[in-house]
Amino acid sequence: MESQVDSRLHVAVIMDGNGRWAAARSLPRTAGHHAGIDALRRMVECAPGIGIATLTVYAFSSDNWRRPPAEVSALMAMLKGYLRDEIIRLVEAGIRLTAIGRRDRLPDGLSALIDDAEVVSAGGSKLHLRIAIDYSGRDAILAAAAACGPGPLTRDAFSRQLAAGAAGPDVDLLIRTGGEKRLSDFLLWEAAYAELYFTDLPWPDFGPDDLRQALRAFQGRDRRFGGLPSVGGTSNAARTTQADRMSLAPRVRTGGRN
Ligand code: FPP
Repeated sequence: MESQVDSRLHVAVIMDGNGRWAAARSLPRTAGHHAGIDALRRMVECAPGIGIATLTVYAFSSDNWRRPPAEVSALMAMLKGYLRDEIIRLVEAGIRLTAIGRRDRLPDGLSALIDDAEVVSAGGSKLHLRIAIDYSGRDAILAAAAACGPGPLTRDAFSRQLAAGAAGPDVDLLIRTGGEKRLSDFLLWEAAYAELYFTDLPWPDFGPDDLRQALRAFQGRDRRFGGLPSVGGTSNAARTTQADRMSLAPRVRTGGRN
């Protein structure tokens, strides 16, 4: 009998393709990011019901500072708006929100909003939504290594330091939308054994059914963590509770989108 805890997954998402989604509609890139926020809302709404305990989304990488200042400002304003407008709804839905990444380069007001959101949502237990802002996986690793100081460096000691910098649990499934197939400096340590799922859909078009499809693909994978194949190859499927299977079942029956 599987426990509920075993079925709670950490899913990480690289929300790529907003700009191309907008360009295909002759809209400014910021319209794509706005549509991306709507897609994030839909995903956050459905995630707790399908066995996701932790959802980490890549909203702004440390390399995104290289984008044109107008786009950077627009993204920062959207992040502020999201935190301001969404936090009450998130708290009511039992969702804990935290941010990972650097705070010292964020514009006025944004880090204060993050601090407030983290405090008021701290009791949320349905889903842990982690938003990566000014985040770099390499920098997170360097910071943790520096914090370990001299002496023997063990995985446990290192993981503890990374956790102090807000690392989450290991990633089970990493989804990237928008057609590219790379990690782009996202959760490099935590995703060491993540299953990778790439889709050509731009992020604004990625909906709950697509998330369910990604989870079904994940359930079909046999995670060996360097060991030998499990009998029948059902290791991920076995991590799904009956409730999760039921909520995923209709798409299995109809074949779903390819
Ligand atoms: C990548 O698409 C997306 C980003 C750099 C930003 C992601 C941001 C959002 C979804 C909205 C803001 C998020 C929150 C939480 C408020 P791209 O611009 O690189 O698209 P492209 O590859 O098609 O140009």
